[in-house]
Amino acid sequence: MRPLIAANWKMHGSLDWDQKPAKFDKFLPASKRQQLDILICAPTLYSVPLLSAAKAYDIHIGAQNCHSADSGAHTGEISAKMLAGAGLSYVITGHSERRAAAETDIDVQEKASAALRHGLTPIICVGESLAEREAGQAMQIVSAQLKHSLPTHDGEIVIAYEPIWAIGTGKTPTLSDISAMHDHIRTAVGEGVRLLYGGSVKPANAKGILAIENVNGALIGGASLEMESLSLIAKAALS
Ligand code: PGA
Repeated sequence: MRPLIAANWKMHGSLDWDQKPAKFDKFLPASKRQQLDILICAPTLYSVPLLSAAKAYDIHIGAQNCHSADSGAHTGEISAKMLAGAGLSYVITGHSERRAAAETDIDVQEKASAALRHGLTPIICVGESLAEREAGQAMQIVSAQLKHSLPTHDGEIVIAYEPIWAIGTGKTPTLSDISAMHDHIRTAVGEGVRLLYGGSVKPANAKGILAIENVNGALIGGASLEMESLSLIAKAALS
């Protein structure tokens, strides 16, 4: 399956980060870039200038969240329809940092469905807490999240497995734990869905993680802010 290397810039950056795609090009030439999908999910404010800057380099631009309604009295929100209308192609839904701020499985399902209705590919995040892993409940938790947060609308989806305790901590599950979870998710969602691993992916561990059979790419936070480290992770997906 064609790998997807997805950057999640979270609440980082500034308007002049539209220069990042050109920098990325220097680290990963077009011949290599064409073998995989590169995506940057930037703060929404920066995504439009970034979109025009990224076009020349075949880099997709996405968002980090959307509202499930197309429009309405929802102060501070942005709809999947607006994102799609602006030319974005992906949206992250249900990131654990948003689930922690009270976003439920049903919210995630509605957002992912809205994304598909408007032609965006949702990247649906799932993952267990440390306490849940230590209690041996990781697979059960992820199964329940999948059951309730998958969209009701047909179309291309991506699933990102991000153990909460691995995000931004420098800790990762063992390769065999990642492999077991991805096999579990594959059984639940079937073939043809790209499964990303996320949580402290760095150039140093990317090769091992991306070589796992049911890992079809990565969702990267901290290491995606610098184009050199993002490109090293992308290269690891190709080898
Ligand atoms: P991290 O974040 O790579 O900084 O751990 C991943 C994510 O939150 O998507």
